[in-house]
Amino acid sequence: MHTVVRLWLCAPELCLYYGSDEIFQRRGNRHLSLSISIFGLGYVGSVSAACLARAGHRVTGVDVNSTKVEMLAAGRSPILEPRMSELVAEGHQASRLHATADGVAAVRDSDVSFVCVGTPSQRTGKLDLSHIEHVAREIGAALKEKKSHHVVVLRSTVLPGTTESVFIPILERASRGRAGSDFTVCYNPEFMREGSAVADFLEPPYTILGAQSPEHLTLLRKIYDGTPCPRFETSLPVAEMVKYASNVFHAVKVGFANEIGTLCKHLAVDMEAVSRIFASDTKLNISPAYLSPGFAFGGSCLPKDLRALAYRAKELELRLPLLAGLMASNSEHLNRAVGAVLHTGRKKVSLLGLSFKAGTDDLRESPQVQLVRRLLEEGCQVRIWDQDVTLGRLAGSNRQYIEEVIPEIGSLLSDDLEQVVRSAEVVIIGNKSAKREELSQYLNPGQIVLDLVNLDHSQRPDKPAAYQGICW
Ligand SMILES: NC(=O)c1ccc[n+]([C@@H]2O[C@H](COP(=O)([O-])OP(=O)(O)OC[C@H]3O[C@@H](n4cnc5c(N)ncnc54)[C@H](O)[C@@H]3O)[C@@H](O)[C@H]2O)c1
Repeated sequence: MHTVVRLWLCAPELCLYYGSDEIFQRRGNRHLSLSISIFGLGYVGSVSAACLARAGHRVTGVDVNSTKVEMLAAGRSPILEPRMSELVAEGHQASRLHATADGVAAVRDSDVSFVCVGTPSQRTGKLDLSHIEHVAREIGAALKEKKSHHVVVLRSTVLPGTTESVFIPILERASRGRAGSDFTVCYNPEFMREGSAVADFLEPPYTILGAQSPEHLTLLRKIYDGTPCPRFETSLPVAEMVKYASNVFHAVKVGFANEIGTLCKHLAVDMEAVSRIFASDTKLNISPAYLSPGFAFGGSCLPKDLRALAYRAKELELRLPLLAGLMASNSEHLNRAVGAVLHTGRKKVSLLGLSFKAGTDDLRESPQVQLVRRLLEEGCQVRIWDQDVTLGRLAGSNRQYIEEVIPEIGSLLSDDLEQVVRSAEVVIIGNKSAKREELSQYLNPGQIVLDLVNLDHSQRPDKPAAYQGICW
């Protein structure tokens, strides 16, 4: 039994939840036999073709490379991957796996086409969409002649917006039809890894189905029923972006592990022990913690510890660009917050939450403190409320820090939340200390709320005219 989650982007800033309790039964695909064409017989296309044939579908692979077509047509795998030879031979013997160079015929004779052609980098790094565009024209031309309904599923990795702004328009022009009525278009990214591609296809981390409307997914749902993983149904751009977010995160993890490992090696620390212990923390380390886009990091530990590691690395003459780049990334995020306030064109700004998180009065290296400094320099009239910060109680390095960065702090800080909120044109939610009920009571519809912490939807006030974040 696996969960299906439906997340549809209904407005640019609003992600609606359609319910996560719909459970589907694992029932295998033996009852369902479709005719499927697959464009592109590289790693993704060949593995998809072999696995879908194994699931009982009639599959035709299409490629411009005649060698790959001939190999698949002869029952031999066009790629080297564990289990592929056996699956391709089985599919061929059962007459379920075929290959052709004739894309138009393949579309005509199938119910659904998967597009798995390459999307390589150009010399500049720009994504080369020429193969996608070529296939879209070919499938579109075939659809023009086809009487029965057809589903086109893009599987290649493409940047968010590509399916809607490139792929669909070409299909519509070439077919003289409309996506959504004359034919259906979905986006279904692939998460296989070379070397374990078949195993990953059969048991992926999740199945992501993207479409302009939930009913466009009817056929794909049937194809993936029985795949043992959670299934997410969402909009086209979200499906496209999840693929990039996943790959980039994997790259970040590799870079992080390598840089920490490098430091360990040069500090004569047992990297394997560090790595094992580090990965055993599923509360803060290997978990969704810190993965919600919000505001810059700060406080008395993260910036200090990053600096200390960076300095030690420099002493050891090590270059660790990922770790070194984090402070730059953080200050760029602060710049974005300043820019977001200035962009409103309003000068009366109230900040709710000065410390880097609710429940502490530690102001050292709080990014909110830096934000206030920058806004004052930009000519904003700033007022601050923080239930945990009372000037009289601040002592030691904490007090010294705030008095150095914001000498005028005494005249900006107030404990009257209502007054601070009502006097503002822009209300910045700096940490989670202000309560939803109070905010809803004091805000008026003409105000703009800049939520830096990305409050849970259930915690957001319901009054303001505009509610926005800086990275969501
Ligand atoms: N390789 C992976 O592990 C992997 C995993 C997930 C996603 N992806 C993505 O999937 C896509 C395909 O990747 P791949 O590694 O399978 O690529 P690949 O280069 O191995 O294969 C692409 C195939 O498409 C064929 N092709 C090009 N133009 C064509 C056309 N007009 N008609 C028919 N066939 C055509 C090529 O001849 C080639 O055989 C890429 O966008 C990639 O980023 C790859």
